[in-house]
Amino acid sequence: MITERKFASTWKDEITVSESKTLDNLSTETRSFAPSEEFSKNAVATQASYDAAKADRLGYWADQARGVLTWDTDFTETLDWSQAPVAKWFVGGKLNAAYNALDRHVENGLGDRVAIYFEGEPGDTRSYTYAQLTEEVKKAANAFESLGVAKGDRVAVYLPMIPEAVITMLACARIGAIHSVVFGGFSADALRSRIDDADAKLVVTADGTWRRGKPSPLKPAVDAALAAPGHTVQNVLVVKRNGEPTEFGALDKWWHEVVDAAGTEHTAVAHDSEHPLFVLYTSGTTGKPKGIIHTTGGFLTQTAVTHRDTFDLHPESDVFWCTADIGWVTGHSYVTYAPLVNGATQVMYEGTPDTPHQGRWWEIVEKYGVTILYTAPTAIRTFMKWGREIPDGYDLSSLRVLGSVGEPINPEAWMWYRDVIGSNNGKNGEKKQNPAPIVDTWWQTETGAHMIAPLPGITHTKPGSAQVAVPGISIDVVDEEGKSVDNGQGGFLVIREPWPAMLRGIWGDMERYKDTYWSRFDDMYFAGDGAKKDDDGDIWLLGRVDDVMNVSGHRLSTTEIESSLVAHPYVAEAAVVGAKDDTTGEAVVAFVILQTEPEEGEDVVATLRNHVGKDIGPIAKPKHVLVVPELPKTRSGKIMRRLLKDVAEGREVGDATTLSDSTVMSQIAQSLKK
Ligand code: WT7
Repeated sequence: MITERKFASTWKDEITVSESKTLDNLSTETRSFAPSEEFSKNAVATQASYDAAKADRLGYWADQARGVLTWDTDFTETLDWSQAPVAKWFVGGKLNAAYNALDRHVENGLGDRVAIYFEGEPGDTRSYTYAQLTEEVKKAANAFESLGVAKGDRVAVYLPMIPEAVITMLACARIGAIHSVVFGGFSADALRSRIDDADAKLVVTADGTWRRGKPSPLKPAVDAALAAPGHTVQNVLVVKRNGEPTEFGALDKWWHEVVDAAGTEHTAVAHDSEHPLFVLYTSGTTGKPKGIIHTTGGFLTQTAVTHRDTFDLHPESDVFWCTADIGWVTGHSYVTYAPLVNGATQVMYEGTPDTPHQGRWWEIVEKYGVTILYTAPTAIRTFMKWGREIPDGYDLSSLRVLGSVGEPINPEAWMWYRDVIGSNNGKNGEKKQNPAPIVDTWWQTETGAHMIAPLPGITHTKPGSAQVAVPGISIDVVDEEGKSVDNGQGGFLVIREPWPAMLRGIWGDMERYKDTYWSRFDDMYFAGDGAKKDDDGDIWLLGRVDDVMNVSGHRLSTTEIESSLVAHPYVAEAAVVGAKDDTTGEAVVAFVILQTEPEEGEDVVATLRNHVGKDIGPIAKPKHVLVVPELPKTRSGKIMRRLLKDVAEGREVGDATTLSDSTVMSQIAQSLKK
């Protein structure tokens, strides 16, 4: 447990990775940090934003939409909620997302501003000014059109973190094609099911990327995905990235041949505000991933506004770096769209944080003078383990805002982020008088943009809490019956009013959209997270309350991994839980009952881990696979994951009275002792 500490002079030795549980810490966490006067004085967002949004929520969003975007045709209605729970925002408005991210900045004289500093893992670099990036996107748009891609068609994107990923997404947006980015860490099977679900016409991929100093292939997964007939893909466009030999089939074309030959003139036509911008698959409580649909006007408005306000963006001087992969929503909202719509300069890094050494990120911050860093708690905890000497050896004085996203950040990691990264004022441990404020941002693939986050020039930040709804968003914590809980109480996180960047549905399954998010409580969006209000009414996120796990900020479904395990011939039954993990937040732990004896000498645990890795992707590989004789079930046959979680986390097993067979837990304990 953590107690109040004095951080002024002694914190250096006190900050260590604590073994204690996040929730224990949260209940005793009382520190808070006011913004410095200097920061507040120059802050982009002020109390006026909250006041304006409170006085007239829709009016606030209408002003924001007109302020941050250039509309080809102005909208006539801010929100149409008559078809709830499917919203229409900025009704009647027309705009082009790529024009807003690119062309208009060039027209406004910002063509020479750097849009992207790209840093490849092997150390190669490229930078694109807004003028150059606009030209690349125009060429790609022409190329995609020459391959028969038209407005409304789906394009699957299976690319590493290279500029072509952003170029591809914006080229799709430009022509009104809908991109469906599939994280490069997903398997061929996962890619195929996403291609099929969205009936993708084009796949954009690369020969591969670089991982920990070695070439890592991507293209073979696309080949495997498309090997079986029955798909809708007409062309596969391949970016040459790592230069490894790649087999070329009938559908394959090199990016550099098709795109480089394409014309540099391309007029962006305006699309309806509600035209779909992209589909992004995310894990839910069932085995089948959901294709989350986002549309244009509302998504761009809320991502740009929150990027500006949460990070206090001064686009003329800031260098923004979001470390998320474009395969996740964070990469969509805060790499591809918001920074460019806001005319910012950003860093994009291809590789891992420890290649070729554990100071790589800090070297990048120093090299490019990064001012705003946006990353995940799992990364911060990894750096804590590696030791503060590493970042202390770099000049991180340029950093002035630090963001966190993806999972609850424990107070220890928050304080380390502040004291080691945010206070660094040059090499060798010099301290800043005013450390960079930390903004913990709660949101989801479904919400599209920040929903709960401090405003760094106003909010007195608290270690471990995302705290307050962003202006114009109404968040609440409710009890089982949907009644707002009092301060000091916990419950379920809900969103009470529609918001601009909200999902518009699940691709091909609107019933599932309603069931998943809108059936638990009347007229409220159910986020799937537990939360609590503290005595000041600030919100603390407590993790998922459903069968969704969060591993290193990546969302995984227990059911999806269970289905994968039982599909293996050895496995009769499987139950998967997310167990607390000091680095990754949660770790996948699988309990399996075998139906077949493995081959003599075979390591069944390794076999099953690899099977899941191949089936879903390396991120879904269970950390532990425990072979057990039985699984704990209720009389109605529901697996009691809570008890398995106790076992996985090494706790004494809780109340097991509802088990159909009361000896199961001791059988499991017995079998694990062997
Ligand atoms: C789930 C959404 C948001 C982009 C990355 C993840 C958890 C996210 C926080 C935070 C506590 C958080 C929630 C949420 N989560 N940010 N700041 N504090 N929990 O997007 O894959 O859609 O996952 O991530 O549990 O429901 P996602």
